[in-house]
Order: sequence, then structure tokens, then C-alpha cells
Amino acid sequence: MTEWHKSDWRNKPRVQMPEYMDEAQLSAVEAKLAQYPPLVFAGEARSLKSELAAVSRGEAFLLQGGDCAESFSEFSADLIRDTFKVMLQMAMVLTYGAKVPVVKVGRMAGQFAKPRSAPTEIKDGIELPSYRGDIINDLPFTSDARIPNPQKMLQAYTQSAATLNLLRAFSKGGFADIHQVHAWTLGFTDREEADQYRDMAGRISDALDFMQAAGLTSETNSELSTVDFYTSHEALLLEYEEALTRVDSTTGKWLAGSGHMIWIGDRTRQLDGAHVQFCQGVQNPIGLKCGPTTTEEDLKVLMNKLNPENEAGRLTLIARFGAGKVSDNLPRLIRTVQAEGANVVWSCDPMHGNVIKSPSGYKTRPFDAILSEVQDFFAIHRAEGTIPGGVHFEMTGKDVTECTGGVRAVTDEDLSSRYHTACDPRLNASQALELAFLVAEELGQSAQTRQAAAG
Ligand code: PEP
Ligand code: CO
Repeated sequence: MTEWHKSDWRNKPRVQMPEYMDEAQLSAVEAKLAQYPPLVFAGEARSLKSELAAVSRGEAFLLQGGDCAESFSEFSADLIRDTFKVMLQMAMVLTYGAKVPVVKVGRMAGQFAKPRSAPTEIKDGIELPSYRGDIINDLPFTSDARIPNPQKMLQAYTQSAATLNLLRAFSKGGFADIHQVHAWTLGFTDREEADQYRDMAGRISDALDFMQAAGLTSETNSELSTVDFYTSHEALLLEYEEALTRVDSTTGKWLAGSGHMIWIGDRTRQLDGAHVQFCQGVQNPIGLKCGPTTTEEDLKVLMNKLNPENEAGRLTLIARFGAGKVSDNLPRLIRTVQAEGANVVWSCDPMHGNVIKSPSGYKTRPFDAILSEVQDFFAIHRAEGTIPGGVHFEMTGKDVTECTGGVRAVTDEDLSSRYHTACDPRLNASQALELAFLVAEELGQSAQTRQAAAG
């Protein structure tokens, strides 16, 4: 095989990427980004890979979550803090259910570029290019706003750097203390509607009290006061990705410096396409979305291309079929993986197959459909004797009304009150935490099934 180079994708067919009109401006931006420091370092990506290897063996569980699309206007310390906080709460609940560590990966600090179902959008008879995320163009429905502007990559870089800086501070600076996190979780289970979760929260409290009494305190154990938190995004805008890709001096291997983990979307996984070509050559952990149109043969080829050495932790398959479609699709792909003897992490994205248009006209996702896809994912892994490794959610720490349902039932009529997403509808903090409690129950059951099978 000839040496891989970070610009090889340019010789492959590309989809879902903008056509920049001003080549000179684009080159100037790429040159500037190529001089900027990478956002993450190779050692961190390798740590994440080894944690994901543990996930693939059932010794840890993956929680990946955050915005569908980060936005330049909805950018503040409070928003970052609130999403980080709800992810820690969820992780605590999941750790309790799974009895294994939870690997926390944000869709944050780089999740700006969006694939779209149509290249253009028509409103009142006017047709304009689709909005593709703040790193590419702007949301307002005007022809100026929709022109792809390479300068926006620089702002995305700056925002990602600032976001990551705050996440690093929160992770290590005391905010993530386990007792603190539990206090927040109790705020949720104090609510009357959430009383079905109170019992588990009580048991977590007891466990923490016991640890404290046994001398395991945050002061003496940094594991209780700090967390590792990683970043991820879809590697869609390859000019940006290439500019931040560097050779790691320790190993001599390429690293995508834009985030710890990157993934390939359901619309950009063409076997001989630009996105697969790019992701093949970087050493980061890679995610691959698998949808109803992923064939067994495609999956085989993709696993060979993306993980030729069958390295554990390298490849995460993110299943996103839609409620009611899991049993037609997941077993055939699980069996393909098993037949190949491939090491993968199986994660469940119950968001992207469950978007509907509500009667009031909003793009929404019903909580029950999300939960049903998650439950089918776990049940099928139990039946196949394989490991349900993680979940992948679009969520925010804010009290938005974008998905319907949950214990504090968001109704169709409520959607208009706080619908803020720049792209897909997200779970709000309460819905996200509720889902964590329900996933924890599934995890407990899966652990029991595995124990019983092991005799
Ligand atoms: C996404 O994760 O935001 C996304 C677009 O997902 P998918 O590629 O699975 O549709
Ligand atoms: Co989305």
C-alpha cells in the first residue's frame, strides 16, 4: 500500500461538501489553520482508544452526546457548563447501572458541519442552498447568508478551542466532583413525576456514603474529584480536517487534531469516497454511522478499510435505524461483525432514525420512539450474546422543548415555546437524565444475562 497522505481525499468523489467560490480565500484560510496548534494531542486520542477498547470488551460503557450542531450565536460558558453537567449526571447513573466506568465523549468543540437531505431549500417559491452548519454558511434564509464562506472555519476553530479549554477546566478543577454531581442528580429525582427513579438515586447515595465512611474521599482520591472528558464531531468538512491534521512525533502517525474522536456520517460513508479515504489514515478513534441502507458487504469493506489491523477501540459502529427497524437491521450487521471476527464498539444512536414532523409543523422526536430504539438495541445484543457498548444522543443541558414526551411531558403544543436548535431536535436536560436511568436498567439486565451465560 502506498503511504497515506492527509490530502489524498481530494482525489476521491466527495459529497455533502460546499463548493467555495473564492479559491484564493479558501487557500489562505487553510494555510492559516495549518499554522494553528492542533486542538487535541495524540496521547489523548490514544487514551480514548484504549478506553474504547475496554468498552468493546464490556469493561466500560460509552456515553456520547451533545448538540446536533454547535452554533456561533448559541455559544456561552453557561451552555457548555450545562451540557457538561448533564452528561456527568447521566454518566453517574450509567456507572451505577453498568457497574463499569463510563467513557464520556461530547459532541462538542468541533461539531459544526452538517450533512443535509437536500442541497437546496425552497420557501415561498424561492430556492436557496441549504444551511450546512455555522462552519460553512449561515442559517437565515437569504442568498447572502447561504453562500459558503471559508472564513467561518477560523471562527469554528476559535470557538472549539475556547470550548475545549472550558471543558478541560471543568473536568479537572473541582466542578466534576462525584458528590457534587450526585447532588444535581437528586434535584431531578426530587420531582414527583420522577419518583420511579428515586430508588436508584437513593442507592447511589448509600454507595457514596459508604465510600466516604470507608475513607474514600475526594480529597484523597482524585478519581472522585476529576473526570476525563473527550470531544468528537462528524469529520464532514475535509478542508478543515486536513488543515488540522499533523504527524504525531511520538509515533510518526497522522492525527486529526480537530477532536479526539471523529465519525463518518450515514450520508458520507461511500466505500471509495473522500470521507472514508480521509478517516482511514488518521490514528484517532473513528465512528461509523450504520443505517438501514448499510449492507453487510459494505460493512465488511468499511471495517477492513477503517481498521485493517483489527485494533480494539479504533472503530465504533453507531447504529441508527429508527424505532421498529432495529430488529430488521441490527442482527444482520452484528452477525457480519462476528463472522469477520472484527473488534468494534457497538453504540446506539436512537436520534437520527426517529425524526418526524409534528402536527404543529416542528421537526421533533418522540421520547417513546427514542426509548424503543434503545431497548431494541439492548434486547438484540442480549439475544446475540454481543456487547451493547454505548449510546449516542443529541441533547443539551438547557430546558428546551424540541423532543416530545418524557416525565415532564413536552407536548406537541409546547414545541414552539423553547425550540432553539439550529438543526435537529435535542433531548432537554430532564429527558436526557431520564433516558440515562432507563438505559441503566437495560445495562443492569444485560450484565445479568452475561453473568448467567458465563455460569
Ligand atoms: C448526526 O449525527 O448529526 C448525523 C447527521 O447523523 P447521521 O449521519 O447518522 O444521519
Ligand atoms: Co443531528
